[in-house]
Amino acid sequence: MSKVSLDGRVAIITGSGAGIGRSHALELGRRGAMVVVNDLGANLDGSGKSTSAADAVVEEIKSAGGKAVANYDSVATTQGAENMVKTAVDAFGKVDIVVNNAGIVRDKGFAKMLEEDWDLVQSVHLKGSYNVTRAAWPVMKENNFGRIVFTSSGVGLYGNFGQANYAAAKMGMIGMMNTLRIEGAKNNIFLNAIAPNAASRMTEKVMPPPIYERLKPDYISPLVAYLCSEQCKESGMIFNCMGGWYSRTAIMCSDGVILGLGKSEVTAEEIMENWDRIIAMENMKTIGSVQESFAYLSPLFK
Ligand code: NAI
Repeated sequence: MSKVSLDGRVAIITGSGAGIGRSHALELGRRGAMVVVNDLGANLDGSGKSTSAADAVVEEIKSAGGKAVANYDSVATTQGAENMVKTAVDAFGKVDIVVNNAGIVRDKGFAKMLEEDWDLVQSVHLKGSYNVTRAAWPVMKENNFGRIVFTSSGVGLYGNFGQANYAAAKMGMIGMMNTLRIEGAKNNIFLNAIAPNAASRMTEKVMPPPIYERLKPDYISPLVAYLCSEQCKESGMIFNCMGGWYSRTAIMCSDGVILGLGKSEVTAEEIMENWDRIIAMENMKTIGSVQESFAYLSPLFK
């Protein structure tokens, strides 16, 4: 087996003072990456801050023989994200890798969810991923190399009671990735998303103990290390990962049905009549861009 090496690469890993991010930082550090350990040191609901979480992980990486520096900014601010990139460039000369991992939760049933619960969750997950990616983008373009990982969630991809704010943010980053995949390709900037499940303070009260004990964050980081490596040429994919299970998940399109052939009008009754064909999941394919989706209309132009 050839080795997945991150030697000489510079990685910013957001929220890597604890949980899954800490595991990524240690794994990337072990594989030779120089790591900016970003962590605001926030509570699970986004309140508070502390420098100790990031500092502890930097020490762990250094004592294992790796290179790391801490950054305590919030991903939710443009200035914070720019500082992260500056920290990386000042300490190690560049940025090759961004793992957007920082996260909080403000779970509530939709009727009880306050606007601030919505806004704060968007600002950390979606805007935060935008901020750090945007700040690193010009450096990656300049160096003709970039690997970016978005931390999405099964909650966004598949749904979960009480997490409309979080689900929207986690799906929003998939939309951002789909477009950046197209924009980044010519500069060797590849982006992928993971939908992890792992034991952390975020899940300790919601996962049954027998499951919690087996879903170690260490199972997530090897996938992230590979996605961040030069060997990985994949871009725009989404991966489920938990407890040693790795699988691709995707937004797909079926053949569906063409009604009216662009000449006659289509009625609601025809839609109802053809419902089984419209929703049939037959011949499913992924679509590489919005332009590609127009291929389904080709019978109109014959
Ligand atoms: P965690 O709560 O253990 O770690 C999150 C870290 O992010 C904390 O150290 C926190 O201080 C930091 N953070 C929070 N807000 C920040 C901000 N504004 N700027 C910088 N750092 C900030 O959570 P966990 O479980 O490790 O989650 C990591 C990521 O994985 C999150 O994006 C989460 O939504 C996602 N995720 C986790 C799942 C799980 O099963 N644990 C499931 C699906 C997704």
